[in-house]
Amino acid sequence: MTILVTGGAGYIGSHTSRLLTSLGRNVVVFDSLERGNADSVLGTPLVIGDIADTALVTKICLKHKVTTVVHFAAYKSAGESMSQPEMYWRNNVQGTVNLVEGMLAANVQHIVFSSSAAVYGNPQSSPINESSVISPVNVYAETKAMMERVIRWYGETHGLRWTSLRYFNAAGASSDGALGENWDVTTNLIPLVMKAALNISGPLQILGNDYPTKDGTGIRDYVHVEDLADAHAKAINYLQSGGPNLTVNLGTGVGTSVMEILSATEKVLGHTVPHEFAPRRLGDPAAVYADVTLAKKVLGWTAQKSLQQIIDSAFHWHYGQLS
Ligand SMILES: NC(=O)c1ccc[n+]([C@@H]2O[C@H](COP(=O)([O-])OP(=O)(O)OC[C@H]3O[C@@H](n4cnc5c(N)ncnc54)[C@H](O)[C@@H]3O)[C@@H](O)[C@H]2O)c1
Repeated sequence: MTILVTGGAGYIGSHTSRLLTSLGRNVVVFDSLERGNADSVLGTPLVIGDIADTALVTKICLKHKVTTVVHFAAYKSAGESMSQPEMYWRNNVQGTVNLVEGMLAANVQHIVFSSSAAVYGNPQSSPINESSVISPVNVYAETKAMMERVIRWYGETHGLRWTSLRYFNAAGASSDGALGENWDVTTNLIPLVMKAALNISGPLQILGNDYPTKDGTGIRDYVHVEDLADAHAKAINYLQSGGPNLTVNLGTGVGTSVMEILSATEKVLGHTVPHEFAPRRLGDPAAVYADVTLAKKVLGWTAQKSLQQIIDSAFHWHYGQLS
């Protein structure tokens, strides 16, 4: 009963592998290390390989008696996906086809898939529930919508059983400072705030302070990475106990503005985070946050960690990386 974690040397995958191991699960990480770090697996067995290598996937699944795959491996940058779309079609969509073919050849029937709230595009209103329109506005988001459909169709044609977890904004680091996000490669807001706070970059550019929100800045739903890891453990239990295929949002249900992130960071820092206001980025919605009713009802999951815990853990992780 082994769980194969693709992309388990990356940000969310490493937190999830660690939690699953601590829960007594047998875990094997499968990662190309192209965008991950071998040190992040913290001693979990690691297979270095590409999900596109169907024969290798089958071999590893048979060797380790895998029963469930948790599928994080993908590229995730919206900007890069618009300049190099072919990379995204190939790695995310074709990679998922090859992975599932490899799983099925080894008779592995369960997959927990890392989808994204990006599939909703720029919604007219929030909170967003799972029946909201799927309307990707970049290639990355389109690949996530396609990967969801590929997996769903393998359910129809081959009896694959799946959960698609639509994460909102993953954030924070492990409470003990062992794991966190690599700010050299991410474009997510909180690492950028930390770079500005620790004087690694110039002032934080806040893109738009004239949105129709409480303080004029954009609102998003930041969910602690350890809460996301917990949701994966629950999704695995759900599939293994026979739950029907499921698409579900993972967020806190609470919208947080850029200024609120800054103010929570200033509490840890003890002084102002250098920042300046810049024009809105074309196409950015004012507010995006999740309706999390379904996750609570079906998985028994709700995010437990506060915004301050997200910021504290992120700050300590990034600060620790400097020394
Ligand atoms: N970070 C977020 O806020 C967020 C939000 C929504 C969805 N997601 C999704 O969650 C997943 C994990 O995100 P993350 O932030 O941990 O990303 P990450 O880049 O830190 O981790 C991805 C991992 O996958 C590996 N990988 C990529 N292509 C591979 C391949 N072909 N074969 C084997 N390994 C491969 C990389 O080396 C890396 O270790 C991604 O699918 C992403 O789209 C992330």
